[in-house]
Amino acid sequence: MAIWSNKFHDSLSELAYSFNQSIQVDQRLFEADLEGSYAHAKMLGKQGIIPEEEADKIASELLQMKEDYQTGELVIDMSEEDIHSFTEAELTRRLGDIGKKVHTGRSRNDQVAVDLKIYSKNEIDELILLLKDGIAAFCKKAEDYTETIMPGYTHLQRAQPITYAHYCMAYAEMLYRDMTRLEDTKKRILETNPLGAGALATSTFPLDREYTTELLGFTDYAHNSLDAVSDRDYSIELASDLSILSMHLSRYAEETIIWSSQEFKFISLKDTFSTGSSIMPQKKNADMHELLRGKSGRVYGNLMAILTVMKGLPLAYDKDMQEEKELLFDSIDTMQQMLALLPDMLEETIIHEDKMYAATAEGFINATDCADYLAAKGIPFRDAYRITGDIIQYCLEKDYTLESMPLEAYQEFHDAFESDIFEAIDLQTVTFNRKVAGGPAPERVKEHIEWMENKLND
Ligand code: ARG
Repeated sequence: MAIWSNKFHDSLSELAYSFNQSIQVDQRLFEADLEGSYAHAKMLGKQGIIPEEEADKIASELLQMKEDYQTGELVIDMSEEDIHSFTEAELTRRLGDIGKKVHTGRSRNDQVAVDLKIYSKNEIDELILLLKDGIAAFCKKAEDYTETIMPGYTHLQRAQPITYAHYCMAYAEMLYRDMTRLEDTKKRILETNPLGAGALATSTFPLDREYTTELLGFTDYAHNSLDAVSDRDYSIELASDLSILSMHLSRYAEETIIWSSQEFKFISLKDTFSTGSSIMPQKKNADMHELLRGKSGRVYGNLMAILTVMKGLPLAYDKDMQEEKELLFDSIDTMQQMLALLPDMLEETIIHEDKMYAATAEGFINATDCADYLAAKGIPFRDAYRITGDIIQYCLEKDYTLESMPLEAYQEFHDAFESDIFEAIDLQTVTFNRKVAGGPAPERVKEHIEWMENKLND
C-alpha cells in the first residue's frame, strides 16, 4: 500500500502501481535519504515541532538504519513505491507511531530534491578522484616520451611535428577542465538546499532551513520554494559535464583505434586491452576503446533525454521528473566505468617510437620550418610560403625529401638558402625548438607535467 493511500484515495491497480514505482532506480538514494531525513528530524525537534526526545529517537534510528544497511542487515523492500516510502515505512516498523512523525512539514518533493543533490555531490567527489587518476596516468605516460617525435595533425593530414608527451598532455588538459567543471557544478549544487521547500510552498510549521542547511553541508538554502522543488538544473549540468568528458574520452579512443591500425602502427594494445576475432586469427581489436567511443552516445542521449523531460513541465513537481534520475544515474555509472579503465588502458598501450618517427620524416612535416627559415632571413612570409610550396612540388617530382634535397637545388629556388637549412629543417630541431610556452619542446612539456601534477595535489 502506498504511503498516500487513505479512504479518499483508494489503491492503485497492480499494473499502475508497478508503472508508478521507482524503487528499483532510486534505491541508490537510500543513504542520502537517511541523511536528509536525519537533518529534517533534528530540525523538527529543535523547533519544537515534534517533541525533542522523539526527534532524537528518529534521528538515532536513522543512523542505525544506515549502519544496518551497510552491514547488510537491512535490506530494501522492493515492493515499496519509492525509496522515500521505504525509509518512512522502515522507521515506522522500528519506532511505531514516532516513526510516522518524520514526514511532518516535509514532502517527497523537497525530499527527493535534497537526496538527489546529496547523492550527486558524493558521486562528483568520486568522479573527481577517478579523473585525477586519469590525468596522473596521462602525465606518467608523458614523462616517458618527452622526446618521442610524432606527427601532429590537422584535418588528419600531417601538419607539424610534436612529441607523444605533448599529445598525452593535451588529454591531461581536457580532463583537468572536466575536473574543474565538476567542481563548479558541485559548488552550485551546494549553494541551494531545497529541504524545507515542502511540496512547493514551504510549510506553516516554523521550519528552520538555515539549520538543515548547516547540518547537510550546504552553503545556503534555496530562496524560492517553488523553484527549489522544480529545479533539476544541477542534474542537467552534471549530465552535461559528463557529456563533455565522454566526448574527450571518445576522441582519445578514436585516435587509439586509428593509430593501432596496420596502416598507422603507431601504437599497439596489449592483449589485456584488445580482443580477438572469432573467425580471423590475425585480429587484435580495440574493443575497449570502441566501447569508450560508443558509450559517449548514451551519455549524450541521457543529457538530451533529461532536457526533453524537463522542457515542458509546469512548476512545481511533476512525476515526469522521476524519469530524470535513471538517466542521470546511467551517465554517472557509465562515466565512472570508463574512467576506471583509463589508467590501465594507457599503461597497456605500447608506443612504437620508430613508426612515429618514420611517419614524421615523410610528408614534408617540416615545410613550415623551411618557410620560417626564409622568413627569418627577411623574406616576407607569404613569399617564403610560396617558394616552399614550389620546393615541395619539386621534391615530389624528384623523389626527394626536404632533408635529402641537395643545397644547390635549394639555391635554385632562392639564393638565401645556405647550408644551415639542413639544421633548420632537422626533425629534432624543429620539434625541440618549439619552445614557446605550451609547445612540444621537451623542457616545456616537462614544465607542464610538473604544473599539472602540482594542480592535482592542490
Ligand atoms: N519517486 C518520486 C520521484 O522520484 C518521489 C517524489 C514523489 N512526489 C510526488 N509528488 N509524487 O520523483
